[in-house]
Amino acid sequence: MSLPSPSPLQRRQISILMCDLVGFTVMSEQLDPEALAEAMHTYRQACTATIERHGGVVAQYIGDGILAYFGYPHSREDDAERAVRAALDLVPAEPEQVPALGPVRLHVGVATGLVVVGNIPDAPEIAASRLQLPHHDVAAIGLAINLASRLQALAPPGVALVADETRALTRSIFRYEDYGRHPHKGFAEPQQAWRVTGERVPRSRFAALRAAELTPLVGRNELIARLQQRMEQARGGAGRVVLLSGEPGVGKSRLAEAMAASLDPQRARSTWFACWPHLQNSPLAPLIRHLTRVIGIADGDPPETVLDRIDAFAQQQVPDGDEFAPLLADLLAVPTQDRYPPLPMSPQRQRARLFALLMQTLRAAAEPVPLLVVVEDLHWADPSTDELVATFVALLKDWPVLALLTARPDFAPRWAGEPHVETIALEPLETAAAVRMVESICGRQAMPPALVQAIARRADGMPLFIEDLTRDLLERVAGGAAHAPEAEAGTAPIPMTLTDALAARLDRLGPTRRIAQVASVIGREFSGALLASVCGLSDAALQDALQQLIAAGLVVPTPAAGYMFRHALVRDAAYASLLRKEQQALHARIAERLAQDFPDTAPRHPELLAQHLEDAGQLAGAVPHLLAAARLAARRSGFAEALALLERALRLLQTLPPTRARTEQEIAVLSRLGALNVRHRGFSAPESRAAYAAALQRCRALGDAPDTCAVLSALGSCEIMLARFDLARQFATECLALAQRQSGQAPHIMAHRLLGGALLLQGEFAQARTHLEQALQRHAHAGADDPAQGVFVQDYKSSALCYLAVLQTIMGDAAAGREAALASLAHARSIADAHTVNFALCFLACVCHIAGDADAAWLHADASLALAREQDFPTWVGVSQLVRGTAAIAAGRRGDGARDVQAGISAYEGMAAVAYQTFAVGVMAQAMLGLGRSADAAALAGRAIAAAEATGERFYLAEILRTSALAQQQAGDAAAAEATLARAIALAQRQGASLFEARARRALEGLGAGMAAVPPHA
Ligand SMILES: Nc1ncnc2c1ncn2[C@@H]1O[C@H](COP(=O)(O)OP(=O)(O)OP(=O)(O)O)[C@@H](O)[C@H]1O
Ligand SMILES: [Mg+2]
Repeated sequence: MSLPSPSPLQRRQISILMCDLVGFTVMSEQLDPEALAEAMHTYRQACTATIERHGGVVAQYIGDGILAYFGYPHSREDDAERAVRAALDLVPAEPEQVPALGPVRLHVGVATGLVVVGNIPDAPEIAASRLQLPHHDVAAIGLAINLASRLQALAPPGVALVADETRALTRSIFRYEDYGRHPHKGFAEPQQAWRVTGERVPRSRFAALRAAELTPLVGRNELIARLQQRMEQARGGAGRVVLLSGEPGVGKSRLAEAMAASLDPQRARSTWFACWPHLQNSPLAPLIRHLTRVIGIADGDPPETVLDRIDAFAQQQVPDGDEFAPLLADLLAVPTQDRYPPLPMSPQRQRARLFALLMQTLRAAAEPVPLLVVVEDLHWADPSTDELVATFVALLKDWPVLALLTARPDFAPRWAGEPHVETIALEPLETAAAVRMVESICGRQAMPPALVQAIARRADGMPLFIEDLTRDLLERVAGGAAHAPEAEAGTAPIPMTLTDALAARLDRLGPTRRIAQVASVIGREFSGALLASVCGLSDAALQDALQQLIAAGLVVPTPAAGYMFRHALVRDAAYASLLRKEQQALHARIAERLAQDFPDTAPRHPELLAQHLEDAGQLAGAVPHLLAAARLAARRSGFAEALALLERALRLLQTLPPTRARTEQEIAVLSRLGALNVRHRGFSAPESRAAYAAALQRCRALGDAPDTCAVLSALGSCEIMLARFDLARQFATECLALAQRQSGQAPHIMAHRLLGGALLLQGEFAQARTHLEQALQRHAHAGADDPAQGVFVQDYKSSALCYLAVLQTIMGDAAAGREAALASLAHARSIADAHTVNFALCFLACVCHIAGDADAAWLHADASLALAREQDFPTWVGVSQLVRGTAAIAAGRRGDGARDVQAGISAYEGMAAVAYQTFAVGVMAQAMLGLGRSADAAALAGRAIAAAEATGERFYLAEILRTSALAQQQAGDAAAAEATLARAIALAQRQGASLFEARARRALEGLGAGMAAVPPHA
């Protein structure tokens, strides 16, 4: 597979303009076709010229209608404005005269939105029959196209109607009237329309677009202080120039505003000029706009009034007002009739005089208090303005003036090196400041901290991105959409307000845009080697492309990965500009290159491969990598990450057709999920059991799934923990039957271990011993056939040895029991599995407690508790603490012991586990007895006995009965104690629990001799 060739289609946000001639049908009836065609041609030419002057392209002539795009093939950050400006020009106040047609009026519709645009291929049957017309090859598809056409149809003659989205992007640049909501064909909801009536003359683009909703200023205090210092220098007559340079949206304009606002109006004044993207070729446009504003000229003012104002202004500004006024009138293109004599100068001379007089006005304005002159967005200056600014910069050196000039990084003036000029490169905000900004935009609408962080992260400290991402999210939430998860994951769509500007930055790259697109599919960070491999580029070509991306400020080199998109949103914009189909094909290509050229990726970063395969739509291929990633995450104790990866794998599988392969993969994932849950939530957690149960269901569906025994054994263990011993035994028996039909030792080991465990807890010691010994014998013979631990968390050998240890101790062979428990621990350590080590340690502590060795019990319980806390294994915390406390009490350290026991009780109460409950509550009763609290001991013993009766967990019952008897004895009820002991002896005898039987007999003897109670654990 080679690099997929770029699609002729693109996903783009564009603004669409549709215009149409009013009353064309009537005209066509009245005119000869030839005359009509000529008239049409003239009309189209005129409209096309207007559209193109504003940067639009005509896509189609539809009868007398024209469809035009702004933002295709190249986006500009002011595409929406350009479309509206063109619309305004197409509906002048007076109808235009077109030869043969007479006065002509248009109606116009404008809308903005995401479209797919390009050479949309015809179906073959249409292509064959269609006449090839030049403009018919480019078409766009999207809701905004329909909307523009509906608005155009709705607009009365001489009116331009604008869609809500377009108006939102341009509201402070133009004047709008509410035109109401209207139902349209193809739209579920009525759509708001706006009538555009004129253009405003705001002070700057910032003042127009951003100033209405200012976020409280964050950071930048030091910079403002520095600018104020410069102002003070200027006050002394040493004029200064500061060029604020920085990427779009980093906050240049805001800093200028903040600086101006910080000045005391008694001690300084300020004045503003601004360049505009659509006026880059319009000589002195910033000056003209400035004068229009300060002189106070409005659309529709009669020329007389305008001239009066110009006169007044000129006289007030300079002593040579009489010379200044006609120059200004000429600059502002105001018809002067015969108010002034004709200007006697050459145009060059005229311009020189104008500049000189303007400089005089600025010099005069710097008295009696110094003047701050802000010139915004110099990167859009026309050449004449450039010249004017250079003149000003040179002159102001000796004036009480601070010039604060803003520009994007590609602007490099020749005067930048002058001694009185300094450049400040504005950097994005620090993370903490970015977070504060998000919070202050949210105001009282509290957002979860994770979401605030996610926005700050995606915005990379760029104030513009922070504002628009946050506001966009707030709007979506207000609109009832639950976009939080997307926003948190950083995958929410790019806000409309940012789309054009981001697309424009990519479009400026030319052919390298494609490389940026491919890189964006790799991710925010990408290695040059992978990019080269995916694009099939030579080293030189790649370096060249990367240098272009770096020079354009879109990409930066990183120490680790190679390269990185400077802003997450630039990467997102590049990604979003690809068709979904192209994204998929590129993800597939990247996965393929990763697998072939970067063999380290699969073992070290399986999540990367999984992500690309998933995004390529190769879901089944992604699953094994997700499993590997989950395993890696679990090993790095990333429980939540591992869980998320497995759940993702399951969701992926559910979307695939139900084949045998899918079911096998599901079994693998569910088994891992069960094991992970057991480790971190405990055996008795519903999630653990549910995962294994789901796995078993699929094993049964397949009939002969290789993992069935392992799943049965794991599920049986969960059932044991829920004290459903009979159910566990059923699974064990099923497993045993299957084992008979399979080769290898593993299934036998699993079945015997499980059966032995269930029987042990039920107090069926003799039977349990047979199965546990068989499990161990099989294990000894297994060799290379050692059962894999993938499905279940515990090592089968360690587990069988632990059970055997308890059993042997209770049956009277304390030495063998201890040995088995130590052997279990040694084995667990040899396989270096923390969970199994913890299991073995905890059992060792319990075995020591049962055997009556309080000191050893304390030591092992202490080690077990420490490990359980360190590894976050909830199952082992409660029991370990309980045993440690009880051991401390038995060893005479009552204070420590009572505290531990209490904590153990609380930990245990919080858990849903019911297995081992008789043991735990029994141990609690023993602890209470040790503390001399016989009533509590009696109550707890009673609870343990009831639990034993309810669940059939009888392995510790004889000992609990003895404890209960001792409590009765302490309470002075010798008769009851005697009866209880008799029950204990009978039970122990029947079970073969020699240890418990001997203890109960001694207690009975003590009772007969009227002795004080025997210690509870001896
Ligand atoms: N320090 C800040 N604290 C709060 N808001 C800020 C800060 N800096 C910028 N903003 C806000 O972020 C948005 C973008 O800032 P601004 O318009 O000043 O960027 P710019 O660098 O001038 O961009 P452009 O190159 O497009 O003119 C504005 O709405 C502005 O109010
Ligand atoms: Mg700005």
